[in-house]
Amino acid sequence: MGLSSMVVTSILAVFSVTQLGLIPTMAEEETMVFGAIGERVILPCIDRSQHDGVTWKYKNQVVIKHQDRILKGITRMTFRSDLNKQEISKGNFSLTLLQLENSDAGKYVCEVGSRTFEVHLQVFTVTGSPSGYLLSNESLTLKVQGTSSAGITWHDNHGKMVTHSQSRELENSGYSLRIHSLQAEDSGTWKCHIRSSSALLEIPYKVLVIGFHNWALETHYAAVNSTVLLSYTLSADRQKIGELENIKGGFEWKPEEDRQYQEKFNFSVTSKGLPWSKQMNNMRFTVKTSNDLQVKLHKVQFKDAGWYRSHFKFSRGRVEKTIHLVVMAVSANPVGPHSKSANVTLLCRLSGPLPPGAQLFWEHVNGTEKETQKEDHNEVKVMTKTAGRWRCSLKVRNTVVTSTDYTVEKAAEWNIYVLIGAGVGAGIVLLLLAGLCTFTCTARQRRRRRAEKIARVRQDLIEKRTCQCQ
Ligand SMILES: *[C@@H]1O[C@H](CO)[C@@H](O)[C@H](O)[C@H]1NC(C)=O
Ligand SMILES: *[C@@H]1O[C@H](CO)[C@@H](O)[C@H](O)[C@H]1NC(C)=O
Ligand SMILES: *[C@@H]1O[C@H](CO)[C@@H](O)[C@H](O)[C@H]1NC(C)=O
Ligand SMILES: *[C@@H]1O[C@H](CO)[C@@H](O)[C@H](O)[C@H]1NC(C)=O
Repeated sequence: MGLSSMVVTSILAVFSVTQLGLIPTMAEEETMVFGAIGERVILPCIDRSQHDGVTWKYKNQVVIKHQDRILKGITRMTFRSDLNKQEISKGNFSLTLLQLENSDAGKYVCEVGSRTFEVHLQVFTVTGSPSGYLLSNESLTLKVQGTSSAGITWHDNHGKMVTHSQSRELENSGYSLRIHSLQAEDSGTWKCHIRSSSALLEIPYKVLVIGFHNWALETHYAAVNSTVLLSYTLSADRQKIGELENIKGGFEWKPEEDRQYQEKFNFSVTSKGLPWSKQMNNMRFTVKTSNDLQVKLHKVQFKDAGWYRSHFKFSRGRVEKTIHLVVMAVSANPVGPHSKSANVTLLCRLSGPLPPGAQLFWEHVNGTEKETQKEDHNEVKVMTKTAGRWRCSLKVRNTVVTSTDYTVEKAAEWNIYVLIGAGVGAGIVLLLLAGLCTFTCTARQRRRRRAEKIARVRQDLIEKRTCQCQ
């Protein structure tokens, strides 16, 4: 602050003090104060030149006064009023009103010495209809009650100012706000700002919406034999729900084309005995906390495709969430292994419709061959002779959401000739071996026979010689 402006400020201050001093009989200050029902409000009255002696009046009746000590009056708000002795000694005679009521509104007069200060109290409240907790998709009307020409603005649970829209209707100069199709995400403290040129009040309103997180229909894509995890989480925590009432939960399923849901199981929501789980065929249900259900499908099959819905029943109504499970299956015709020149038709199909803008295609892994589905068919076929790994993929918004591989096996045809060749070769070898064996055997036999003959001749000769000696 510059020196000159400081001088001007002090001159002005001196001037206004003197001016105030000139008109002592009229209320010197009129202040507007806004208060919220049930809350505390402070009605200001400050005269730093005084250190004791104040009388607060409402409609000419004494509410409370201080003259050495606090003296209570006889008004309706007397026993909810208070003065702060310590502040009084500093010239602050402000009145505190507790647990404000609608009828507390009106003109209050603070008398300090020969001076009087007027405070106009306006009382407001915000009511919600229906009151209490809400279920998702319900509508809530918030209304400001209180007479004033003050400006009203609303702020949502994220602090963002509410503007008029289809789902947020502002009526009656903002004194009424209608919020349509509430969701769990709308839970939290909403605020109403009431503003005039001199007063400001902020009234909070707690909104509790029970519903599933990510309430919008979800679609899960899964390949045959993969594991699928479906998760259903209610917005409010266990304590909050437990306090409300006894809630029933349930889980149901229907195949892709069916109309009727079939109940799989139901349960009561209590915090006792949690978590628990249950196995049914390839399905495992787990209730982790009283507001969190998980369903795990092990080795999902094409027939498992369909609609999986979980619901919770309250006395007010029911909230539910559905997950659409779309299964991808691949098959080959004919089933392999195939001869080298044979064409194989690979089929990839989805149990449900193709999402808008999505692509379903076959491609040869590490190859160049590719076949994309035509139009909006939920299946794609490829006719090929190329062996190796083929992959069917579903791409939604440039992200592959699921894929399955199929390996085309080709019977190695040259093996047959090799086998024949090998067979013939083995035959020849066998024949040769047999021939060789016969040859050696005969030779050996002949040799033995000759040896026997020589031995016999020799014996004969010895015998003859013996005879001659006799
Ligand atoms: C005056 O006293 C009240 C309590 O009675 C206090 O809340 C308020 O801040 C004080 N005002 C000033 C200007 O000191
Ligand atoms: C799924 O797994 C089973 C055995 O676990 C197998 O026989 C079958 O071929 C698999 N199906 C696909 C499409 O991979
Ligand atoms: C394989 O398909 C091609 C066309 O895609 C066709 O010309 C050929 O005759 C087919 N071969 C056999 C063995 O069916
Ligand atoms: C395909 O190519 C990738 C690299 O692009 C490589 O890591 C992978 O081993 C290849 N697979 C086959 C079956 O050749």
